[in-house]
Amino acid sequence: MPKYRNSLNVDADDRDPLISRRSFLALVGTGVCLLGLGGLINSSVLGFLYPNAMKEPPSIFSIGRPEEVLSRDGKLFNAKYKVFVETQAGKVRVQTAVCTHLGCTVNAVETGFKCPCHGSTYDSHGLNTGGPAPLPLVYFEVFKGASGDLMVDKSKTTLDWNAAWYSATA
Ligand code: FES
Repeated sequence: MPKYRNSLNVDADDRDPLISRRSFLALVGTGVCLLGLGGLINSSVLGFLYPNAMKEPPSIFSIGRPEEVLSRDGKLFNAKYKVFVETQAGKVRVQTAVCTHLGCTVNAVETGFKCPCHGSTYDSHGLNTGGPAPLPLVYFEVFKGASGDLMVDKSKTTLDWNAAWYSATA
């Protein structure tokens, strides 16, 4: 018959206050396991309550007041939404800056766009011309929102660079 019958191998009658090395390691091991399990459950529950989709920028966003946006000419990069906002003679169109290969942000260059990650190139309209990028850079729909701001809807895309222009008079 074993000397100790409880799980920690401690003699119940023993008055020695010291805990054995084995019991101490068993307690530490159990504590670590419980902490790990708690962390796993916490991250699962938090991940369920606050899914990643809530951290992503919305697909419809404002690019500003029409009188401000349409009064300038040129192509501006919007880092928050990763788009190029191009204005010309009172018209505006918005194009993605996300490379169609693996999602890096492309740079505007003299010939169009170039991706710094794997070297994909696009012409000035966003058509893929070299490198591993499989698709062109799309344009997003621009419309005037209820607030009066010019809005971009990333869920509505086109490859027609002429139809992508928004004009206040159209
Ligand atoms: S992510 Fe742009 S070329 Fe690979």
